Amino acid sequence: MGATSKIKLNKRLDLGRLPAHIAIIMDGNGRWATKRGLPRNMGHKAGCENLKKIVEFIYELGIKYATFFTFSTENWKRPQEEIDGIFNVVRDYLDEDGDEFVEKGAKIVVSGDYTKLPQDLVDAINRIIEKTKNCDKFVLNLAINYGGRDEILMGVNKAIQAGKELQNQQDFAKLLYNSDIPDPDFVIRTSGEMRVSNFMLWQMAYSEFYFTKVYWPSFTEKDLQKALIDYQQRKRRFGAV
Ligand code: FPP
Repeated sequence: MGATSKIKLNKRLDLGRLPAHIAIIMDGNGRWATKRGLPRNMGHKAGCENLKKIVEFIYELGIKYATFFTFSTENWKRPQEEIDGIFNVVRDYLDEDGDEFVEKGAKIVVSGDYTKLPQDLVDAINRIIEKTKNCDKFVLNLAINYGGRDEILMGVNKAIQAGKELQNQQDFAKLLYNSDIPDPDFVIRTSGEMRVSNFMLWQMAYSEFYFTKVYWPSFTEKDLQKALIDYQQRKRRFGAV
């Protein structure tokens, strides 16, 4: 988390009606780079810089929970060089910003089986989780080696192992990653793709969605405010009238 930004707030944004949990599918890093004649990994580097910037802004707005889709269980199909590039920028972010997370009261958690990642990244994740475990002002959830279907399967297996019939949906939700985080109120996907791509399938049952054509490295605080203003126009009914 960098220095406090001096972002001009849009007057139409109602700071009293922000989502408690915002989840972002950071798509379009590779295309952002290709468009500029750069290797795809430069896009992930720029994407990670943008992640830092947007995390900072979400924190400043006072939104308590943020989840970022950083690497999916399907992303292993990408070229090894690109996979390594993504892991390296995430590891550096966690290593470099550790003290600042603590200063700001930001707790870092991970959704996904991160034990399958390269050891240096596993170590960095374990260090940051341990270092920030008592922080309670803000929660940054990184979905890494995460897939919604895998997560549901994990929950089912845990239930079978416990050998006890689940009574309700809450009982099942408790078996999923970071179940103390409320379901995302608002999900944003950048880069123009309009699909869920196996992200938080259980938790998104009643989320509001926002899609923008902007590639992730170009997605600014201004774009986020525009998205949030859109969110604030929505009527959430949760099945009621
Ligand atoms: C889902 O699309 C999108 C993601 C898992 C996020 C993609 C972003 C990255 C891999 C890089 C983010 C990293 C940093 C450091 C900012 P998908 O490609 O898994 O699925 P699709 O094939 O349906 O589009």
